[in-house]
Amino acid sequence: PAHRPLYGRHVLVTAGPTHEPIDPVRYIANRSSGKQGFAIAAAAAAAGARVTLIAGPVTLETPSGVERIDVESAREMADAVNGALPADVAVMVAAVADWRSKDFAAQKMKKRGTAPPALLLAENPDILAGLAVARQRPRLLIGFAAETENVIANAKAKRERKGADWIVANDVSGPREDSVMGGESNAVHVITAGGVETLEQMPKSAVARALVERIARELEPKDE
Ligand code: C5P
Repeated sequence: PAHRPLYGRHVLVTAGPTHEPIDPVRYIANRSSGKQGFAIAAAAAAAGARVTLIAGPVTLETPSGVERIDVESAREMADAVNGALPADVAVMVAAVADWRSKDFAAQKMKKRGTAPPALLLAENPDILAGLAVARQRPRLLIGFAAETENVIANAKAKRERKGADWIVANDVSGPREDSVMGGESNAVHVITAGGVETLEQMPKSAVARALVERIARELEPKDE
């Protein structure tokens, strides 16, 4: 039916940052409010999909009709994603930390008037790239790209490198006051195998609806 175009589909969404613990009180994180990912989960549920939302640490309410799994670190997020398969569509909106602290100190690290400790990093799994080559690869795999320069060229390269079907790119450069990060609106480019489509600046909820509409169109059998 026209108003529930994703009925019968399972949509997986990751959202928010990840926190990579250093000791019991400290962590490494990316800047992410989770708003765009939560909006996509809400729009997919409104379109009739079964939605699993895997959320890093954010302070947002769970959209209605969405099953939410809360995680902290990238490795927990990767496990939750794999545990939620199979899915027809995966939209990876989370700002996953690329690196974690190589070691976790079980006790709070103390300042002792000596040299600051060195923080050694280890690489986190790339959840999107892993899903692209997974046995249960979702039919439509969508990544996000926050770029500060050469937005479209970098996003095209990212699409190829990560094996995603689409990359949704946004320009996060510019003054913090009107930054998309944490803000209510977004302007994105949808990069597919066929080309680039630019959506003008609009509320994150409208970006989410536009994206869900394109997802539904992609999954529909084409009528000749
Ligand atoms: O390489 P970059 O972090 O810019 O790629 C962004 C895209 O890859 C987003 O869709 C993000 O959710 C995903 N990603 C991931 N796992 C990582 C890093 C990024 O799924 N470790």
